[in-house]
This record gives sequence, structure tokens and C-alpha cells, in this order.
Amino acid sequence: MDILTREMTIDDATAIAGLTRQLGYPLHADQVRRNTRAVLGDKDHSAFVAFDGETVIAWIGVAMAVQIELPAFCEINGLVVDKQYRGKGIGKLLIEEAKQWAREKGLDTIRLRCNVKRTETHLFYQYLGFEEIKQQKVFEIKI
Ligand SMILES: CC(C)(COP(=O)(O)OP(=O)(O)OC[C@H]1O[C@@H](n2cnc3c(N)ncnc32)[C@H](O)[C@@H]1OP(=O)(O)O)[C@@H](O)C(=O)NCCC(=O)NCCS
Repeated sequence: MDILTREMTIDDATAIAGLTRQLGYPLHADQVRRNTRAVLGDKDHSAFVAFDGETVIAWIGVAMAVQIELPAFCEINGLVVDKQYRGKGIGKLLIEEAKQWAREKGLDTIRLRCNVKRTETHLFYQYLGFEEIKQQKVFEIKI
């Protein structure tokens, strides 16, 4: 199996929509296309895919996070590997892609938020050297 990575493109939208459903976000491909266009058009955001031949099998989203109270850092805001391809080193490959992007942006820290229910995923991040630094609740309001 020869898995490669590249920057996401608009043409990946249908595949990304399928993978995003596996992550628990059932977005329509048109919405994913609009989101991808916005991400790729913003110098402080990017996204990468892993592919096997012609098939996109995983994606990762990254952003430069700028907050008043912290030094700028890289945030991973989405990562999913197709169910059939998990456990083959593809998640790790995309984390390396995120590290490379962050370094090119001059950032020395990567953060991410992960649902407390994803206990297997926590072990993945810890295995790769990420440390749990706090627990949070997420609040939302419709306006
Ligand atoms: C989490 C996820 C991205 C990991 O991707 P993956 O391709 O399956 O993981 P990899 O095969 O790259 O694993 C890399 C290393 O972590 C280790 N690892 C992975 N999951 C592990 C676990 N649950 N416990 C211990 N080690 C684990 C692997 O053994 C591997 O070790 P190696 O490099 O020594 O071989 C993938 O399982 C997934 O898409 N999960 C569902 C969606 C999700 O939770 N996304 C993240 C939202 S925050």
C-alpha cells in the first residue's frame, strides 16, 4: 500500500463529505466544497488529504490560532481516517503534515480539542506525544 499526502482541493469535496460523516458531522458535499474553498483561500488555514491511488482516505485541517492571552499556535481542527484504513499509520502521516505546516508558519505548538467520548483517539494522540493540558466544556448559542 502506497499512501501519499497532498493539500486538499475543491475536487475532494465529495470524498471529504463521506469521511466527515464518519467523524459524526453529516454535511452535504456542497457545504464541504464551500468550507474547503474558504479554508484554502485563507493563508492562516490549510487542509491535507491522504490518498490511495485515486481514492481520498483521510483528511486533516489546520489553522493558525491567534488569541490575546497566548502565543500563536497551530490548531488541528479536524482529522479522520476512513474506517477501512485505520491502524496503518495514516493518522500519524497527517499529524506529520500538520507539524510541517506549523513549522513553516513559525509555530512551535500544536493543540487540538477532542471529544471526551473518543477514548481510543486520546490514546492515539498520547502515543504520538501530545499531552492532555486541560478539560473544557463547549458552549453554543443560536443567534
Ligand atoms: C484517530 C485516528 C485519526 C488515528 O488514525 P490511524 O491512521 O488509525 O492511526 P495510526 O495508524 O496512524 O496510528 C499511529 C500510531 O498510534 C498508535 N495508536 C493508534 N491508536 C491507538 C490507541 N488507541 N492506543 C494506542 N496506540 C494507538 C498506533 O499503534 C501507531 O503506532 P506506530 O506508529 O508505532 O505503529 C483514526 O483512528 C480516526 O479517524 N478515528 C476516528 C475519528 C477521530 O477520532 N478523529 C479525531 C477527532 S479529534
